[in-house]
Amino acid sequence: MSRSVDAPSPASDTLNDFTAEASQARRVVVLISGNGSNLQALIDAQAYDELGGEIVAVISNQADAYGLKRARDAGIDAVALPHREYDSREAFDGALIKVIERHEPDLIVLAGFMRILTPLFVQRFYGRLLNIHPSLLPAYQGLDTHARALDDGVTEHGCSVHFVTEELDGGPVVVQAAVTVDAGDDAASLKDKVHAREHLIYPIAVKWFLEGRLQLGQQGPILDGMPLPPQGLRLSHADAAEELDEE
Ligand code: GRF
Repeated sequence: MSRSVDAPSPASDTLNDFTAEASQARRVVVLISGNGSNLQALIDAQAYDELGGEIVAVISNQADAYGLKRARDAGIDAVALPHREYDSREAFDGALIKVIERHEPDLIVLAGFMRILTPLFVQRFYGRLLNIHPSLLPAYQGLDTHARALDDGVTEHGCSVHFVTEELDGGPVVVQAAVTVDAGDDAASLKDKVHAREHLIYPIAVKWFLEGRLQLGQQGPILDGMPLPPQGLRLSHADAAEELDEE
């Protein structure tokens, strides 16, 4: 039987297509290199329907990253893409872009991804790339943040979620959580306290983005239509401690 080109086919009914599209979950790809405790916080949030979307793939540049097991255990596509198999940073990032794009993500979440990204990569996903960093940015960009904070004798430390730009750990901050540094703290105890705060704020920031409440505007991050202050929103030590049921 022939059919006129204008006749709506039952399989491509416009209204049905629209409904299907509107109800589709927002898609997240998470990049890791190691333990993946932040990934686990995102997986847990998704399990409680508190992520605003679905983690469709986890990609690690380290084949033995524990986070890949966390992904598999949660039934998420887990991909090892060892950077050592590529001749250059550009070649690796090119391959990474291809794997990410295959999953058609709305958002790419860096969760302990220990690689410096090329400008090409950052430009490709600009505005939909989030990272979490273990310090109250702009303080302590780079590595060993807890030890450096202790060496300086600071009384307050914390973590920051920020959009990724070409400046390492320099992109605009969305939200921070502070922690008081106690006299008895060492790098390990401080790391644990900061990690707990990371697990608190990262799923929230991801949810804001996936629900369309958070964007990267021309002048910086915008939440619910309002520009955020230069260091983003700040959760105090006391508020975070209360959320986390800390002593
Ligand atoms: C976190 O401290 C995060 O801030 C930093 O890398 C660490 C990753 O930890 N970017 P995990 O793998 O999520 O446990």
